[in-house]
Amino acid sequence: MNEELLRAWRTGAEEPGAVLLDGFHPLKHALRFGGAVRQVLTADRAALLALAAELAPDVAPALDALAVELPEAALRTLAPRLHPTGVIALAVRPTAAANRAALADRPRPGPVVLLENPRNLGNVGAVIRLAAGFGAAGVVTTGELDPWHPAVLRGSAGLHFATAVERLTLAELPAGPLHVLDPEGTDIRATAFPDDAVLAFGTERHGVSAELRARADELVAVPMRPGVSSFNLATSVAMGLFHWMSGRPPGGPA
Ligand SMILES: C[S@@+](CC[C@H](N)C(=O)[O-])C[C@H]1O[C@@H](n2cnc3c(N)ncnc32)[C@H](O)[C@@H]1O
Repeated sequence: MNEELLRAWRTGAEEPGAVLLDGFHPLKHALRFGGAVRQVLTADRAALLALAAELAPDVAPALDALAVELPEAALRTLAPRLHPTGVIALAVRPTAAANRAALADRPRPGPVVLLENPRNLGNVGAVIRLAAGFGAAGVVTTGELDPWHPAVLRGSAGLHFATAVERLTLAELPAGPLHVLDPEGTDIRATAFPDDAVLAFGTERHGVSAELRARADELVAVPMRPGVSSFNLATSVAMGLFHWMSGRPPGGPA
């Protein structure tokens, strides 16, 4: 039985677009936001269902149907650094075509966040979590980093499934006014971000490229005390999205 489950997992992990969900919260978000969850393995099924009943009763029936118990030692052959919640799952990410269509869809519920060539997996996860929370239309990255890397999924708590996340080139950017956040821009308080904006942020070390700067409809700065050179990437995204949200009437959809 264990061997069969492990074999099924290894086959599933080879499926195109398969992603590992490590721990309860990414799994909860994947189920809640309609992710295609294929297999759920846990070291303690009763404890997992109790956790779901306490923290996320909406996903408890799906977990009850999917979760299968395996000895912890067997689970650790698949995920050596097993999350303290003792559960791992396999899901399939939405196709690039589906994400591209969602990003191109108009009118948008909120801005698209563009991260130009980000380097830090934790930053990208934090940004995806912010975008999902604020109700942004999606997160686009350029460069080599895979925004669906397992460490990014851990950082986003699985909220990739609540927004569109895709790697594109600058030439493929979704349409919409391009507001580039840069410490040398004009004061953010003098502008408003429309719902169809693309809010762009530069790479952690070098900031915004000349190419992105040249494409910008405007360059916008969050003012800083003299002597401070920049904010962290994810906190800058938080401020940009908060600025967008602050320009909307209260009580509307996020
Ligand atoms: C860590 S910063 C990059 C630092 C880089 N040395 C620079 O001078 O831009 C990463 C990104 O966060 C955004 N950012 C950081 N501080 C900002 C500020 N005060 N105003 C607007 N955007 C900011 C920008 O998009 C920036 O490219």
